[in-house]
Amino acid sequence: MAATGKTHENWSSRSAFILAAVGSAVGLGNMWRFPAEAGENGGGAFVLFYIFCVLLIGLPVLLSEVLIGRHGQANAPESVRRVARDSNAPEGWSILASMGVFAAFLILSFYCVVGGWVVYYIGVFISDLVQTGLAGGAFEGRAAGDIEGLLPGLFGNGGLMVGLNLGFLAVTMFFVARGVSSGIEWVAVYLMPIFFVLFLGITIYGAFTGNFGEAVAYLFTFDFSKLTGEVMLAAVGQAFFSLSLGVAGMMTYGAYANRDTNLGETSGIIAGADTMVAMLAGLAIFPIVFAAGLSASAGPGLMFQSLPIAFQAMPFGSLIGLAFFVMVFFAALTSSVSLLEAPTAYVFEKFKLARPVATLIVGLGAAALGVLSSLSFNDMAEFYPLSFIPLFAETNFFDTLDGVTAKLFMPIGAILTCIFVGWIADAKLIDDENGLDGVLHQTWRVLVRFVCPIALTIILLAGLFA
Ligand code: PHE
Repeated sequence: MAATGKTHENWSSRSAFILAAVGSAVGLGNMWRFPAEAGENGGGAFVLFYIFCVLLIGLPVLLSEVLIGRHGQANAPESVRRVARDSNAPEGWSILASMGVFAAFLILSFYCVVGGWVVYYIGVFISDLVQTGLAGGAFEGRAAGDIEGLLPGLFGNGGLMVGLNLGFLAVTMFFVARGVSSGIEWVAVYLMPIFFVLFLGITIYGAFTGNFGEAVAYLFTFDFSKLTGEVMLAAVGQAFFSLSLGVAGMMTYGAYANRDTNLGETSGIIAGADTMVAMLAGLAIFPIVFAAGLSASAGPGLMFQSLPIAFQAMPFGSLIGLAFFVMVFFAALTSSVSLLEAPTAYVFEKFKLARPVATLIVGLGAAALGVLSSLSFNDMAEFYPLSFIPLFAETNFFDTLDGVTAKLFMPIGAILTCIFVGWIADAKLIDDENGLDGVLHQTWRVLVRFVCPIALTIILLAGLFA
């Protein structure tokens, strides 16, 4: 049942697809958001529930998404429409992907704000390296409060925030405008291997120099009493965010996959790599933070404030700091590229525009929202767009977009995807695409039909109303 009307390029190989998808999954979500969320939600209980969510919910949903894309061979809403059409089901189901495309656009807008902070810290460490030289720690002779003050200092400078934000977005637009093989695939194939080398080096370094034991105990000691509805919703939201789910991104990448790619196996590799990086990121960041006697619950400040203080005490601190933020930059770029690609593919196929034109339109929209997010740290700090909803009371523009996408759009998109793939789409069509046999296939079916939609609905309601 090959779909007709193919309008786009394909990945040049299966490994290119895997690198691009892992590139999408591994990003600020692993390095910045995961340790922050784990720390804010009490460590062990959050982490173990997170792993549970990845295996039982994230992985089945991931396979469902790439499968829809591969069958449809088009932008996400059009792919859902084609699966629906080939299953004699209402084409209106494409709404689930339209919502996803919109959510990807929202995430892109604030993701590039944080991408801008990463660029700022690259600059900070380069200038530190130039000033103090290679040996010794970072920020020689500067007080901890001073180093911690770098981030609020940046936040206070609205112009710089906006500039860095738009700069990061512009780099993202450059690669998406170049297309699948010479842009998106290029960044993944060159940057992801460099990322992994740097990442392993820093993790090993952190394990030897930091307080590894305390970090392991903190991340993996399960305390049931800490597992509240809110913690569970935060963990599911983080699992989706980290695996790039519920926002049409993986559908879009699945559409560029060839017919002979085994999607079941590929999804396993993507989820495995992403989760490994999140765990190792926790095991790299927390030992360093604990060794420096800093608090685990610093939240978003953990990567940007606590870690640089810890680099101060380390041999070769400036160089390690620079390597760390360059690595995070690479990971963030391969993710922002996928966030931009989902809406761009939709706009250029739907309105029959040239790819660069569509990239520009979507990019300008993300720039406008990005400016509001950047300013929510300074001039617009008191603007709470959804203050009438208790969950988002006193939440600024940036945090509102983060919360709404991870806690509403992603779980709702995933629930609809499961119902669509599990109950609406033609079973034969699904079987032909998923690359699973026997017990694995049966397990996946049960997860998608029953476990995922029910568990997600309960967690969503518990998190919102409990
Ligand atoms: N998964 C990416 C990260 O962890 C973020 C992302 C979310 C990318 C949704 C694409 C779609 O940083």
